[in-house]
Amino acid sequence: MNVVEILRTATGLTPDLPTLERALRTRMRKLGMAAHADYARLLDGPELDELAELVVVPESWMFRDPAAFHAATSLVQRRVARDPAAVVRILSAPCAGGEEPYSMAMALQDAGVAAARYSIDAIDLSAASIRRARAARYTANAFRGEELEFRDRYFKADGKGYVLREPVRGSVHFRRGNLLDLGADAARYDIIFCRNLLIYFDDAAIGRAAAVLSTLLADGGMLLAGPAEAPALCRHGFARLPLPGAFALYKTSQPPAELAVRPMASRRVAGVSLKKTLPDGQSAAGLLGIARRHAESGRWREAVRTCHGLLALEPTEAGAWFILGQASRHQGDVRAAERHWRRCLYLAPRHHEVLGALAQLAEHDGEAGRAAVYRQRAARLRSGA
Ligand SMILES: C[S@@+](CC[C@H](N)C(=O)[O-])C[C@H]1O[C@@H](n2cnc3c(N)ncnc32)[C@H](O)[C@@H]1O
Repeated sequence: MNVVEILRTATGLTPDLPTLERALRTRMRKLGMAAHADYARLLDGPELDELAELVVVPESWMFRDPAAFHAATSLVQRRVARDPAAVVRILSAPCAGGEEPYSMAMALQDAGVAAARYSIDAIDLSAASIRRARAARYTANAFRGEELEFRDRYFKADGKGYVLREPVRGSVHFRRGNLLDLGADAARYDIIFCRNLLIYFDDAAIGRAAAVLSTLLADGGMLLAGPAEAPALCRHGFARLPLPGAFALYKTSQPPAELAVRPMASRRVAGVSLKKTLPDGQSAAGLLGIARRHAESGRWREAVRTCHGLLALEPTEAGAWFILGQASRHQGDVRAAERHWRRCLYLAPRHHEVLGALAQLAEHDGEAGRAAVYRQRAARLRSGA
């Protein structure tokens, strides 16, 4: 197997070529190696972790897509109301730097659920991310919304950042782990957050992850996916629960009766609004038009702001990701541009402009072969093939 196949088989990840090449260069230089084949032979040992560390995208923030935390909190409350001695088991996999499981813990504390009534485990492939999670120290980047009152209540500012206070900090059990390696002997969970990981997997790896998640999810349990991932999981044994904005799923082999779906009574979780509302008279399509006009006139800051507003309402709006990519490209951040455009293409595989943009980026990276693949794909779309 070559390096790409080894990485994909072990972790599910299919990194973009420039990222992988950078990672390989870094590791091979460090080890004083010149031949890829020699390096690939090392990947049946700890070297695989070193390489994986350089290709993961450990991006996260507090209360990312807040409706998921609301859905999870109400499920915990219902279980505890039915059985006051219940202990609801929650897993965040992957947890990146801990932003997601700590958000869950804050939401439960705010909802008045006793700490003895739940447990939160959190895993991530990246050892560096787990170290960050345990340190529980965050920069302003971890707090992206406008409603940050929870930050004052749960964090202590120390001049360099924000440190999470007890007891929330001690309420999450972190460990390094590979989701794909969690097998039949692992614990069962009533609620699993598996968000913004499968977007980096191909369909075969999504199938493997879905099988693991299905084993890990207890009967009547709820899986919370990322906005772009729920449709893929629905091809692999899961179905959507009608909880707007939460991307909540259940196993089709388990009737969802236990989940007793109810509309969300509250519109907030830990003080964060579940859904921003559009200014009067505006639609998502209208906002995209506004963002486009800003971009066309070079008003990049306004374009980015409008796109973020739109994505808070419609996280799967491919056009907004495309404009964010243009803005990043304009600022010279080609890697951010590539990330945004790949997400656009994931959401809208027939998006002509993004294929052209990615082809240009590949040429900029000296990747003629990859550029040709994008251009051929665009040509096939144009010819209707
Ligand atoms: C974009 S973050 C998502 C974090 C969080 N769930 C969220 O939605 O904000 C993706 C994380 O997946 C982790 N990861 C990648 N492959 C993994 C695997 N096979 N098992 C566990 N974690 C993995 C990366 O280390 C990275 O921290």
